[in-house]
Amino acid sequence: MSVNHARHGRAAHSRKPLVDPQGRTLDYLRVAVTDRCNLRCSYCMPAEGIKQIPHDDILTLEETHRLCSLFTELGVRKIRVTGGEPLVRKSIVPFLASLTELPARPEVLLTTNGLVLTEHLEELKAGGIRRINLSIDSLNPETWTGITRREGFEKVRSAMDLVLEMGLGLKINVVVLPGVNDHEIPDFVELTRNSPLAVRFIEPMPFDGAGKALEDTIDGKEILLRLRSRFDLTPVNQAADAVDRLFTVRGFKGTVGVIEGHSRTFCAACSRLRIDSRGRLRTCLYGAPGASLLKLIRDGGSDDDLAEAIRTEISFRFRDGKKAELAHHLVGLESMASIGG
Ligand code: GTP
Ligand code: 5AD
Ligand code: SF4
Repeated sequence: MSVNHARHGRAAHSRKPLVDPQGRTLDYLRVAVTDRCNLRCSYCMPAEGIKQIPHDDILTLEETHRLCSLFTELGVRKIRVTGGEPLVRKSIVPFLASLTELPARPEVLLTTNGLVLTEHLEELKAGGIRRINLSIDSLNPETWTGITRREGFEKVRSAMDLVLEMGLGLKINVVVLPGVNDHEIPDFVELTRNSPLAVRFIEPMPFDGAGKALEDTIDGKEILLRLRSRFDLTPVNQAADAVDRLFTVRGFKGTVGVIEGHSRTFCAACSRLRIDSRGRLRTCLYGAPGASLLKLIRDGGSDDDLAEAIRTEISFRFRDGKKAELAHHLVGLESMASIGG
């Protein structure tokens, strides 16, 4: 990807790490490269989908590359590409590979629903992608179709096996929906018996684009109780900023755990920044969108201007997701597909 860095006034800005008012270093960037998705998961959007953002209001891949490059200069060491479904965006796989080649050599990661993953896996691996986070909310084809409102279960299920066969790291995301898939928790754990994957059970969060999520919900404590009632769990040592609480199961190869995304038990060590699918910087999943980096770029902003806007936004960062939510009245009306999860 040819990017004219000189034009952007690179290197003049301070390279000090990005630190928020609570002293948390922000070195993990999540970029939503599209709001489009080839599934219609009930906890993420209404059946008719969400109003699509016009193409012109979405960052080009060149613009996204420039931002990622700048963020790595500001200390970001891990970039996760999300969506929507990132793999529906044209040229996304070479784009991911180009991020791994940035001078700072960030870890580049992908969160995908797996529907079209198989056809991209070789290229992803060759491009330096070492592990995949894959969403699959049921191991039963009918239940899966009920949740996603689309066909394609077998494609996702076989992509999962292929990721492991290819020696890539694999984390499975399962949003637990009471009365829909919660009885499958033991079946998901069973996947970890002979394979080194991580299965994470996620609390539903209020981002279904319709304000209806959480009418019936379950929290991480309850999920853990259920896990403990069937399996012998031992906590895994993890990075301080992990959102998942992982455990090994005695005698099993993989790990299992919970993501308390709604309870928000991990905010104290949160290292995450987001660029949403409209190119806006967000310092918390639950908070209002901040500075439009897209607008700044298109108004001809230099890297210095961008870095200054980023630092200013971070200076307003809330202590945690509950405080951020209190200050943001639209939580629930936005879809996870446009924020990026
Ligand atoms: P790893 O780096 O592999 O641990 O990935 P991850 O868990 O950070 O990323 P992934 O995209 O797989 O997200 C898993 C779940 O965690 C999704 O439901 C996200 O919405 C949720 N999640 C990720 N970051 C945050 C966060 O900062 N706050 C909250 N509340 N949830 C988050
Ligand atoms: N609550 C919890 N997790 C969600 N995800 C999407 N929407 C929600 C929600 N409302 C998950 C997806 C994917 C990750 C990026 O976020 O299942 O694994
Ligand atoms: Fe970070 Fe906000 Fe998520 Fe808490 S809720 S972990 S502050 S993004």
